[in-house]
Amino acid sequence: MMMMKVSFTLLLTCTVHMLTFTVESLASCSSSSATEAYPSGYGDEHSSSCGASYSHEHDDLVPPKREVYGGGRIIDITHKIRSDLPSFGSSEGVGQFLWLPSSMKNGSFANISEMKMLTHTGTHVDAPGHFFDHYFDAGFDVDTLDLDVLNGPALLVDVPRDKNITAEAMESLNIPRGVRRVLFRTLNTDRKLMWKKEFDTSFVGFMKDGAQWLIENTDIKMVGVDYLSAAAFDNLISAHLVFLEGRDIILVEGLKLDDINPGIYSVHCLPLRLVGAEGSPIRCILIK
Ligand SMILES: *[C@@H]1O[C@H](CO)[C@@H](O)[C@H](O)[C@H]1NC(C)=O
Ligand SMILES: *[C@@H]1O[C@H](CO)[C@@H](O)[C@H](O)[C@H]1NC(C)=O
Ligand SMILES: *[C@@H]1O[C@H](CO)[C@@H](O)[C@H](O)[C@H]1NC(C)=O
Repeated sequence: MMMMKVSFTLLLTCTVHMLTFTVESLASCSSSSATEAYPSGYGDEHSSSCGASYSHEHDDLVPPKREVYGGGRIIDITHKIRSDLPSFGSSEGVGQFLWLPSSMKNGSFANISEMKMLTHTGTHVDAPGHFFDHYFDAGFDVDTLDLDVLNGPALLVDVPRDKNITAEAMESLNIPRGVRRVLFRTLNTDRKLMWKKEFDTSFVGFMKDGAQWLIENTDIKMVGVDYLSAAAFDNLISAHLVFLEGRDIILVEGLKLDDINPGIYSVHCLPLRLVGAEGSPIRCILIK
């Protein structure tokens, strides 16, 4: 009896929420005409959200799958987390990462899933504690990363395809002083490595001397790369150590940089606030 009462209350709450939602959609629809608080031209007029929510009710339930938003103004440079995404050092890929402990098919009032994955899955960020144990112990986790570094003007550059990111390759890029955020597109994107389930150790990344050159000759604080590690496999530890020792450089790895023109964008990356974690999945977008 208790159980029934509980689920009845929950159902009721759901219904109330649904009603509230409908009322809110209506309200936001009518408020798109100009008012003092919401003058016309202020909002995002070409994507009227109320129209979208109406059509969803009548459509044949096909969810939108987007890589760009706002007619190309916003580019998603995050890889979808999928089971066949490559995972560092594994031939199996990410594998199952979602479970559905409460499912409507089994009588639950809602579908509630849970996830389990490496914090360095897919497009992700490294915190200083990733390669320095004393930083880990001192609490330099992903929640301590500076959002000012992860958000702002950024340069997307094409790295020469014939070598790893060495000092020589860095020098040839001629990245001006003052540039704080750079997304390095490499042969990894051409080879579509993030679309291959099996981890590939031949990916392009920073060699130790390339990382050292970046620190000594540029103002770059956010380093974005297009495979699972900023450091090349052959210099995996040494290049990571060079980057992370100063605790001011943030590595964003596994970015999706396909089909984007090189140039200047505004980058926006937000890691999860995972207390105690030395890595976190991150959502990154570019805005033109
Ligand atoms: C709930 O999960 C089931 C799988 O058990 C799925 O078939 C169904 O579409 C889901 N329902 C909703 C509302 O997402
Ligand atoms: C529902 O429960 C059965 C029995 O525990 C289980 O085998 C099945 O996988 C569950 N289905 C879902 C969609 O959770
Ligand atoms: C980059 O280094 C890896 C080893 O870390 C190597 O397998 C790969 O061939 C190198 N790539 C290029 C383009 O030199």
